[in-house]
Amino acid sequence: MTWPSWWNLEVTAPFQLGPRELPGRVWTASGCFAYGLHAHEFTAADCPTPYAGLGAVVTKTVTPVSRAGNPMPRLVETPCGALNSIGLENVGFDAFLDTVLPELEALGVPTVVSLAATSPEAFGPMVRRLHEAAKGFAHWHGVELNLSCPNVAEGGHDFGGSPATVARCVAAARAELPDRALLAKLTPNVADIVQLAVAARDAGVDAVSAINTVVGLDVDLRTGRPYLPRRFGGYSGPAILPIALAKVDQIVQGAGVPVVGVGGIAAPEDALKFFALGAVAVQVGTAQMRDPFAAARIARALGQCSSS
Ligand SMILES: Cc1cc2nc3c(=O)[nH]c(=O)nc-3n(C[C@H](O)[C@H](O)[C@H](O)COP(=O)(O)O)c2cc1C
Repeated sequence: MTWPSWWNLEVTAPFQLGPRELPGRVWTASGCFAYGLHAHEFTAADCPTPYAGLGAVVTKTVTPVSRAGNPMPRLVETPCGALNSIGLENVGFDAFLDTVLPELEALGVPTVVSLAATSPEAFGPMVRRLHEAAKGFAHWHGVELNLSCPNVAEGGHDFGGSPATVARCVAAARAELPDRALLAKLTPNVADIVQLAVAARDAGVDAVSAINTVVGLDVDLRTGRPYLPRRFGGYSGPAILPIALAKVDQIVQGAGVPVVGVGGIAAPEDALKFFALGAVAVQVGTAQMRDPFAAARIARALGQCSSS
């Protein structure tokens, strides 16, 4: 395959993101590849492992205390994507530090840890503990602050919607993270995502990840009610690609902060569109749930093909 003449990024080569060099520019997105464990036994004829060529696995978001998640059903397929309302089911921060993170390190999985907290300032102590627990780890590259999950009713608010609160979250985390990459993941469910990106930039983030899921709802015509018990969910997959591209473009043009593009990527050409707009890296989410080799195949395709 031949790529367009402007394409000259080596996506499987290391690149600098803030204080940290990451191994590549194609990552898996949070929540769509679990913690990044347990896939080493998978093989495919064209790909040695689902990790081949990946720059990072962004873990499932970890919260201070373990969460059982929302009632079922939590995931509904739509013709061009999926609606989810997982409710941040996860093992909790203590168990993550004790068992999951050391295993990721032992397996050599390039890791970005996704964190959510109960208040902006609570990110500081979480990042400090993570930093202490993973001090000598070679494969832990950074933290992504999940500021934008629309599904969590607990705590009452989604603090990713306010620039001032985004700034407090980033500042608290940055103070404890001098030597690893710090990303803030932004919600698209606001009037002006650029304001959020500017706030994150000014508070010291190394990049923003854009976008998290788009608020959506689907109705089960057999019952006349929404499929999801909580009515709304996060919409993801190919349908949101143009939305994600638009948000990334707005941020690149308006905020001047490095952007990791995420939303609707299922093929190398989709990823290429984010890079064309100036994204420094991309994440593959929903496509990774259907095919655990999706991100690795995209990395391989973009890495192997030269421009014309
Ligand atoms: C089932 C599911 C679970 C998700 N869990 C998280 C999560 O824990 N934290 C987070 O920041 N984003 C989460 N996301 C959002 C994705 O990381 C991604 O931002 C979004 O799905 C858009 O990308 P995609 O269209 O490639 O899936 C989740 C998405 C899905 C589909």
